[in-house]
Amino acid sequence: MSRSERKWDHIRYALETGQKRSTAFDDVQFIHQSLPNINVSDVTFHQEIGGLSLSSPIFINAMTGGGGEKTYTLNKQLAIVAKEAGLAMAVGSQMSALKDQSERYTYEVVRRENPSGVLIANLGSEATPAQAKAAIDMIEANALQIHLNVIQELTMPEGDREFSGALKRIEAIIKEVNVPIIVKEVGFGMCKETVESLSSIGVSAVDIGGFGGTNFAEIENKRSEKSQAFFNQWGIPTAISITEASHASKSVSILGSGGITSSVELAKGIALGASAIGFAGFFLKILVDKGIDALYEEISALHDELTIIMTALGAKSIQELQRAPLMISGQMHHWLNQRGID
Ligand code: FNR
Repeated sequence: MSRSERKWDHIRYALETGQKRSTAFDDVQFIHQSLPNINVSDVTFHQEIGGLSLSSPIFINAMTGGGGEKTYTLNKQLAIVAKEAGLAMAVGSQMSALKDQSERYTYEVVRRENPSGVLIANLGSEATPAQAKAAIDMIEANALQIHLNVIQELTMPEGDREFSGALKRIEAIIKEVNVPIIVKEVGFGMCKETVESLSSIGVSAVDIGGFGGTNFAEIENKRSEKSQAFFNQWGIPTAISITEASHASKSVSILGSGGITSSVELAKGIALGASAIGFAGFFLKILVDKGIDALYEEISALHDELTIIMTALGAKSIQELQRAPLMISGQMHHWLNQRGID
């Protein structure tokens, strides 16, 4: 199977597999404030994260590119929505376009559609500094995501089996490129120790890419005859992973993602310590099933609802929402207790 056929397979299975909602956000509750002492008009979203100026805490996470006309169209539509709604947007892994020039146009379209927006390049941790620079140049990216997808690779019969040296390779990229580096997971979450290791080499931000949404173990297991079903339930739920990460080094910004489908999960993710929240499968499904206008309306509704939630909590800014008081119960309470995180 060609790389571009595999990409389209991923999109198809991601849409079918859907969001399972085992993110642990149900274990998180806001503590109601009867005296929030602010007005709806006081709420602002603007913030600077790791050198990026963001007008929304929502970003479109890495999904596509490199699969010919279909992924070209999806990237074009996502870029138009990102521009209209003022969201940062990451593209899918660009390795295929670095190896095959004929795929470049499926990525380049995002910069053409959104000339002054925040765009994020994407490669795996096998990339060299030269490949990182080429991926950034391809879309004139404002930042580079480096994805870690060990479980996805191990689940794929044709996947990688060699994972040593990733931290050293990421460090080499950080030294040679001049945009912020975001290291991300793809739906299995990051623990505190991983975030500490990444912080120690100068990573600007991590996207913990937690468990509970798009599940690449399940997707690869469906595509393959030799199933490794034990990985289907593997991973750190998104709400728990954000909390783990926010108790690691303070020098790294935390981005949260993985199974986010509502304004309340968005707000909870920020209150647990994330500066911004990435949406992938949920947005893709709306775009493919209902079209570009429906996706724009969904994002507008998320912005409106987040404003209302922040007002109820008395949080005028994303930084203030990060300090909103929460109650943690159930599995998440248990997990954090055993890990010595309070
Ligand atoms: C992805 N994701 C992804 N991530 C990455 O770093 N590089 C990539 O090329 C891709 N490709 C990709 C394709 C498709 C179809 C989907 C749905 C997802 C992972 C994505 O960025 C995100 O980390 C996970 O999907 C978890 O978020 P959601 O989907 O649960 O919101």
